[in-house]
Amino acid sequence: MAGDKPGSATVFVIFGGGGDLAWRKLIPALYNLFLDGRLPARFKVLGTGRNQLSDESYRRRLREGVDQFSDRGEVDEKSWEDFSSNVFFLESDLGDSRAFAAIAKELAAYDEQISGRAIRIFYLAVPPDMFKPIASGLAGEKLNRDRSQARIVVEKPFGHDPESARRLDRILAEHFLESQIYRIDHYLGKETVQNIIAFRFGNALFEPIWNRRYIDHVQITVAEEDGIGHRSGYYEHAGALRDIIQNHLLQILCLVAMEAPVSFGSDEIRQKKVDVLRAIRPITADQVGQNAVRGQYGSGLIRGERVPPYRSEAGVAPASTTETFAAVRFFVDNWRWQDVPFYLRTGKRLPARISEVCIHFRPVPHQAFPGAALADSRPNRLVMAIQPEEGILLRFEVKHPGPSMALAPVMMQFYYREAFRTRSPEAYETLLLDVVRGDSTLFMRSDQTEAAWAVIAPILDKWQSVNPTDFPNYHAGSWGPESADIFIARDGRSWTLPTFLQCREDLASCRVDREAEDGGQKTENRK
Ligand code: BG6
Repeated sequence: MAGDKPGSATVFVIFGGGGDLAWRKLIPALYNLFLDGRLPARFKVLGTGRNQLSDESYRRRLREGVDQFSDRGEVDEKSWEDFSSNVFFLESDLGDSRAFAAIAKELAAYDEQISGRAIRIFYLAVPPDMFKPIASGLAGEKLNRDRSQARIVVEKPFGHDPESARRLDRILAEHFLESQIYRIDHYLGKETVQNIIAFRFGNALFEPIWNRRYIDHVQITVAEEDGIGHRSGYYEHAGALRDIIQNHLLQILCLVAMEAPVSFGSDEIRQKKVDVLRAIRPITADQVGQNAVRGQYGSGLIRGERVPPYRSEAGVAPASTTETFAAVRFFVDNWRWQDVPFYLRTGKRLPARISEVCIHFRPVPHQAFPGAALADSRPNRLVMAIQPEEGILLRFEVKHPGPSMALAPVMMQFYYREAFRTRSPEAYETLLLDVVRGDSTLFMRSDQTEAAWAVIAPILDKWQSVNPTDFPNYHAGSWGPESADIFIARDGRSWTLPTFLQCREDLASCRVDREAEDGGQKTENRK
């Protein structure tokens, strides 16, 4: 994973260089790496696309993107000047082989300029139907040949179903070795997601209880307040199951459930993750109803503003059956996790943007305390907050102050921002730097994507064959459809209000209690 500044000169060729991803994510990430002195001293960014842009107008547009989307705010004039003097635009029609000849010429000229051989990173920020012409166009110019220096980066969606993912793999494998291919799942670049491994395997405390004997169940949530924005073209064909569960959520599940790696080598970690995917109990067509729930948002209130239903968003079919919410229960069939449910859920237009993993521990095996002492007691819970708050929270029981024995749950909290007071790099910074360094630990291997598709394929098939009759079935600004509550309640459990929100509510309620006490009324401190 990303560490020191890499030394070799590097060229980033961004296909789709005039598009949204380059504008919002890639260039702000490269600029931040530059500011931190982490890019190689000699680098070049070559954006390509159909847009008619001069180098100057391209740089101006990218600067607006950095001003708007970098967490560091507006650019510093001098630094931007220095950075952007390495950025160029090449207008190209990728259906025309001359486009690749022009790219090859630019790359050869750069090698001549540096009197050496630069690392070449071909970043495919384009829809998957462009993978084939680009991979073969590059091969046509022999730009894939230098196996250690030429790397190709592909964005999700990596396929639409197991078969299309295999097709994409075959296309890439025709011209590139697996070691040259970097399949991005940007969640793996998030500090807090990487921290799951550090937390689990860097501490002696937790691993001995990280199993079915002590853990009752696991909930993993990726909740978003936003709707689909301008992405209906993609989202209408994707839906929440493909968009988030197939990749981000399953990857997090793998990190939570994997066995301890023998080393930190990229294949070792990826192998351990793929073992989890392969151990996930297959869901048959007739079990889909008990293991998965879908939803679509109607109108509702987000941050006090009324927002339209999904079916009225620009570009969405008026009777669309695309799900914007999905919840799935998985079991991992191995010694460690047998019969421990993993509940995964995601949705657009939920009340908050929050991602977190919540480990629910079993109650103690025997309660020695009298019933009255346990009125407020709760089983232990460990939360890994992924975003926006980044940290770890542990809930445990203590004695409530007072003359009698009564248990009360309290939270022990660690927040990155308090503990380190340093900026966390954005996911794309980490991932781009890893590509430069040739470290593929945080990228998806082809067998991983294939196994992840296999896990969700039966649900996809079932949902495609049976139209939902109750869409829209949740209000924007709510926690999803009622069917999702019923689904988990059947197991005798309930969804956890994401802990960060819960903590905010608890703090507020503590304050109210204290004020009440100060006013002479004796109230119990609530959980
Ligand atoms: C993307 C999905 O992969 O992740 C989007 O396609 C989603 O639909 C986004 O909004 C969420 O990413 P993050 O980093 O904002 O949680």
